[in-house]
Amino acid sequence: MEDEEQTTRGPHFVGKKDKLIEAKQSFRTLEGRDILIIYNKGVLHAMDAYCYHSGSTLQNGDIEEINGKMCIVCPKHKYKISLADGEGLYKATDPRVKPAVAKWFSKGVKQRTHTVTEINGDVYVKLSAETCWIDSDYFQGEKGKVARQKAAEDSP
Ligand code: FES
Repeated sequence: MEDEEQTTRGPHFVGKKDKLIEAKQSFRTLEGRDILIIYNKGVLHAMDAYCYHSGSTLQNGDIEEINGKMCIVCPKHKYKISLADGEGLYKATDPRVKPAVAKWFSKGVKQRTHTVTEINGDVYVKLSAETCWIDSDYFQGEKGKVARQKAAEDSP
């Protein structure tokens, strides 16, 4: 089963380019994995649909440029995730530096991103084959699904 999944990661047809551009953010399920396709400034990106922090959907998150990187801002707790590589960015001050100036730092890759290609207006997504654990993986599994549902129920 594991091997079978490895060989069927796509590319999968996800829609016409003009429709994806118009929608700006489109949810798709590929091989049981929920992903978000995001159009920003002439580029289509794809990443796991649920935020690595606590599994809220990233759909409809604002897009902002942070430290030179285009990022989606999770609607739930405002975590910033770079569109290109799923890097988690946060702002902090180094207490050793005086005067204290807030700067952006990276937590590394936290959100799994996928590869988008386009052929004659048809857009395809190939799911990431990266084998190491990425935090957003949790919310694609069965335990994560339960956690997502619980978080949604607990939300005001
Ligand atoms: S669930 Fe996305 S920032 Fe908390």
